[in-house]
Amino acid sequence: MDKIIIFDTTLRDGEQAPGASLNKDEKVEIARALDRLGVDVIEAGFPVSSAGDFEAVKSVAQAVKGASICALARAIKKDIDAAREALKKAKHPRIHIFLATSKIHMQYKLKKAESEILRLAVESVKYGSKFVEDIEFSPEDASRTEPEFLFRVIEAVIEAGAKTVNIPDTVGYSEPEEYGNLIAAIKNNVSNIDKAIISVHCHNDLGLAVANSLSAVKNGARQIECTINGIGERAGNASLEEVVMGIRTRPDIFKDIVSNIDTREICKISRLVSKLTGFVVAPNKAIVGGNAFRHEAGIHQDGVLKKRLTYEIIKPEDVGFYETGLVLGKHSGRHAFKQRLESLGLKLTGKQLEKAFKYFKGLADKKKHIFDEDLLAIVEDEVMVTAQIWQLDDLVISSGIKIKPKAQVCLKRRDKIFKAESSGDGPVDACYKAIDKITGIKGKLLDYSIQSITAGKDAQGEVSIKIKVKDRVVSARAASTDIIEASAKAYINAINKISLKTRHNEPKVYF
Ligand code: KIV
Ligand code: ZN
Repeated sequence: MDKIIIFDTTLRDGEQAPGASLNKDEKVEIARALDRLGVDVIEAGFPVSSAGDFEAVKSVAQAVKGASICALARAIKKDIDAAREALKKAKHPRIHIFLATSKIHMQYKLKKAESEILRLAVESVKYGSKFVEDIEFSPEDASRTEPEFLFRVIEAVIEAGAKTVNIPDTVGYSEPEEYGNLIAAIKNNVSNIDKAIISVHCHNDLGLAVANSLSAVKNGARQIECTINGIGERAGNASLEEVVMGIRTRPDIFKDIVSNIDTREICKISRLVSKLTGFVVAPNKAIVGGNAFRHEAGIHQDGVLKKRLTYEIIKPEDVGFYETGLVLGKHSGRHAFKQRLESLGLKLTGKQLEKAFKYFKGLADKKKHIFDEDLLAIVEDEVMVTAQIWQLDDLVISSGIKIKPKAQVCLKRRDKIFKAESSGDGPVDACYKAIDKITGIKGKLLDYSIQSITAGKDAQGEVSIKIKVKDRVVSARAASTDIIEASAKAYINAINKISLKTRHNEPKVYF
């Protein structure tokens, strides 16, 4: 078999998506899930970029011992020093050095000539190789680089010790055939290419990131850089679930090419990344969207019932998409509850199960039918939350068309109750102002959206928000049958993230 290396950059390029910032604990949680998923390399961050990123890479390197842990660095000594320092505890460390090679980047951004770029590339790879055996080099904006110069750079960095050469389509400009031809040309024109793995890193500005990555694989690339749910800078990166399932579903085209990915973990990690970044997955998103395996048209439903393959090219359970279609209610007991969670692929510890069951009972008092989506929301929004510095204890709202909306909020922190009142333009505004009074943190609301989790008037509403506090932007979400409560909880989750981030970002700069 011919192995394809899956290099996940959710924690680095994915986190560069505006508003997707993750704190250290969240990064470790995602890194552990990526390790369970079976990715080969986890790019954990860009250590020199901030003290917070440095600490996050260090923690991931300490926590994960299966996958290689990679840190990004410019072709500058201080970046490489920060990367190697952050990777000290990694079992399999990798340093990823990048330097732009396209004319436009060299002339306008770096203001350097080709000879200077070539020298810096070689020197940085040699410098990095002194500390770490596994060096990856990226000629940034490779797809818009003059091919002859690109071949020279690649040959030189392999000679200097790079084990992987990554060919980024940095601005998502390539077209599949053209990009595949570029990979083939690299294979044909770089004399020592057999000494390195060719990697691809495609952005999705024209919606072609996955197509370009797969075309590259057909032409000899053996590492794909990708992110969960395709998140990343601007329009994002190639989505991990799509490239992996693309290869797996078409063995006739990708002959004998296999990855290490345990595809049954895909939906779970997709939900985790969506929850922690606050980026909602579109219902029609390939592989992980809520509608990806739902058949609406009668003809399709009939076909699937007669023979699944008529309209399904992937078995939903192969990507961990479970749907029991059954409902629970307030008379359902612990045993039925546990079984239903298990059939949704959710295995909880005894303590987590107790907590989830308590929330379930509370929800069942307000809502007659509890669907699969409600159970997922309970587990993801209430049980799996990492740190709850502030918790919502009580909320009283008065609102109407002819009165000024008012909110009384009680928050709990270390078993102490804090109370505040405020009025506002609407009940959510009043509520957020009261929370600001208690926490002393004033968040600027950048984005607010609400969607119902299931159908029905008693459905839970899931609120997703993005807030800014000073120069930090965080996303969060929460669900409830009461949309003001969901709004308050989402805001508190965001405040908790900010509080944690501030703590972790206490300056620890050593360089
Ligand atoms: O898109 C890009 O070129 C990058 C590099 C740092 C690999 O993210
Ligand atoms: Zn990128």
